[in-house]
Amino acid sequence: MEKKQAILIVDDQIENIELLAAYLYPEDYEIVKAYSGEEAIRTLAQTKIDMILLDVRMSGMDGFAVTAKIRKEESNFHLPIILVTSLKDNKDRIRGIEVGCDGFVTKPVDKMELLARVHSLLKLKAYNDLMGDYRKELELEVGKRNEELRNLAGHLQHVREEERRLVAREIHDELGQVLAALKMDLHWVERNLSQGVTLVTEKIHSIVEIADQTIQMVHRIAAELRPGILDDLGLEAAIEWLGTDFSRKNGIPCTVDFTVPKSIIGTKSSTVLFRIVQEALCNVARHAHASKVSVELWDEDLVLNVRVQDDGIGVTEEQSKSPAAFGLIGVRERVMGMLGEMSITGRPGKGTIFAVRIPFPAEGGWA
Ligand SMILES: Nc1ncnc2c1ncn2[C@@H]1O[C@H](COP(=O)(O)OP(=O)(O)OP(=O)(O)O)[C@@H](O)[C@H]1O
Ligand SMILES: [Mg+2]
Repeated sequence: MEKKQAILIVDDQIENIELLAAYLYPEDYEIVKAYSGEEAIRTLAQTKIDMILLDVRMSGMDGFAVTAKIRKEESNFHLPIILVTSLKDNKDRIRGIEVGCDGFVTKPVDKMELLARVHSLLKLKAYNDLMGDYRKELELEVGKRNEELRNLAGHLQHVREEERRLVAREIHDELGQVLAALKMDLHWVERNLSQGVTLVTEKIHSIVEIADQTIQMVHRIAAELRPGILDDLGLEAAIEWLGTDFSRKNGIPCTVDFTVPKSIIGTKSSTVLFRIVQEALCNVARHAHASKVSVELWDEDLVLNVRVQDDGIGVTEEQSKSPAAFGLIGVRERVMGMLGEMSITGRPGKGTIFAVRIPFPAEGGWA
C-alpha cells in the first residue's frame, strides 16, 4: 500500500492548527503538527513531510524565516510551502514569493480554497518525487555504464598489448627461424656452386620448400590478425571459414547456416558481425566443453538475428553478468553501436545460447 502523504501544519496558536487539521481530516492525509518555526525545522529534519502549511506571524522564527531556511536545503527544493496569513498587503506576498513559498491562503481560511491548493500542490509534489526517483535510477544506470566502459577501455588496452606481444613473438620465433635457415642454405649454395649441379639443385629444392612454408606462415599470421577472406569474399565466406577453423582447431563439429541477403551488410558491419561470432565461438572453445556447435545468421521481419548454440556446460547468470566479462561487454557495446541487443542464456549441463538481434536500419542497409 502507498504511504499517506504527510502535511506539516505550523502555527503558534493551537486552535488554528486544529481548524486546519479538521478541514484536512476527511482527505486521508497524515497530519503532523508544530507549534513554532523552530519546532517545524526540527520536525522536518526527522520526518518525511510532503507539504507545509505555515503561519506567517509567529513568536520566534516567523513564516518567512522558516521558508527561507527550508529552501536552503537542496533536498527541500520541491517541498510545497503554503503560507497561511492574515496579511493582505501585497508587499508581504511578494516577500513570501521571494523567500520561496508556493502559495498563500488567507485567514479566515476558506475550506474549499485550502483543499484545492493542497490537492494541486501535492499532485505536483508527487510528480516531482517520481521524476526525482527516475533521475536517481538513471544516474545509477549511467554511473554503472560509465564504469563498465572505463573498465572495458582499460581491458582493451591490455588485450592490444598482449596481442602485439604474441604477434611479435610469433614473427620473431617462427619467421625469424625459417629466414635464418634460408640464409644458411643460401650461404651453402654460394660456397658449393662449384660442387656440381645435382647437389646444388637438391639444396635449392629444400630452399623452395622452406620458402613455401614461410609463405604459409605469413598467411596464417595475417589471417589471425584479420582474415583476408572477409574483405575478398564477404561475410558469409568468412563465417564459414570461422566454423571450419573452429572445428579444425578444437575437434568439435560446427555447422554454419547463413541466409542474410548480401545487399544489407557493408564492410563496417561485416567486421562487427564477424568479431561477434568469433568471440562467441572463442567462448565455446574456452569455456563450454561442448560436443557440437551451430552458428546461424538469418533475417526475419526486418531484424538480423545471430545465434551461436552449444551443448556444453551452460553459462550461469553470475558469469555472464560479471563486471570482468570483458568479452561479452565488448560484444554488447558493438551490438548497441548497431542499435541491437545481445542475450546469453545457459542451462546447466544442456548448453548455452548466445543470441543477437539487430533491427535493419531505416534506409537501405548498414555501412
Ligand atoms: N558458451 C559458453 N559456455 C559456458 N560458459 C560460457 C560461455 N560463454 C561464456 N561463458 C562464461 O562467461 C564468462 C564471460 O565470458 P567473456 O567472453 O566475457 O569472458 P572470457 O571469455 O572469460 O574472457 P575474454 O575477455 O578473453 O573474452 C566466461 O568466463 C565463462 O565463464
Ligand atoms: Mg570471451
